[in-house]
Amino acid sequence: MAGAFITFEGIDGSGKSTQLRMLASVLRLGGFETVVTREPGGTPLGKRLRTALLDAQAEVDPLAELLLYAADRAQHVRTLLRPALETSHIVLSDRYADATVAYQGAGRGFTPELIAEVVELATGGLKPDLTLIFDVSVAECLMRTKRREANDQSKDRLDGEDVDFYARVRDRYLEIAAAEPERVRVVDASGSVEETHTKVIEIVLPFLEARGIVGQPSEQNAPPTGTQPQKTPVN
Ligand code: TMP
Repeated sequence: MAGAFITFEGIDGSGKSTQLRMLASVLRLGGFETVVTREPGGTPLGKRLRTALLDAQAEVDPLAELLLYAADRAQHVRTLLRPALETSHIVLSDRYADATVAYQGAGRGFTPELIAEVVELATGGLKPDLTLIFDVSVAECLMRTKRREANDQSKDRLDGEDVDFYARVRDRYLEIAAAEPERVRVVDASGSVEETHTKVIEIVLPFLEARGIVGQPSEQNAPPTGTQPQKTPVN
């Protein structure tokens, strides 16, 4: 496939979604054909599954949860991810299969064998080319999540999990990174949003360049005069 599949991972409150939006806008300004998506919820069916999965009031059996994330992913891979990659897009996905390994594997305690089978079935073997894991301490993430809940009154089902659950999830993410250093990069996300963004740019732009993927700057995607973004240093 000629495109590039980049996934964003991390425990809740790690700031990955903000970083994804910031990277997407840099790439689009640079003329890269960029698709932004997420799991769960990247497709019309996925949106309905997301609502069901994250309903704070719902009691969801762990096996049903595992299979619903897999159903969301199967639909996502077949109707959005593969078509976008086959037409040479850069796809930025807010979570993908590593989330199942970390949350349902380490968090809920399903065996690595079962998780691997379910992931393989749902993805059909589609792996990200690059995965960024946004790493922050569990205490900091829980604080950020509480702040967000207080600000926008939002709360989802997983926001009710305890410190141990998130510690297991975080550790599994770090294990994934250690096992697959070619694909997975850990980004220290404990600093400011801008500091983390600089780290993301330092990883992603050289990665795209090494794959021979270049932007197509045009007048259409040039920023209006006076708002030219600072060229972010790459080294
Ligand atoms: P989000 O907050 O990043 O949008 O993700 C929604 C929640 O879904 C988050 O708490 C992590 C959880 N999740 C899993 O437990 N397993 C998965 O496979 C995915 C994709 C998400």
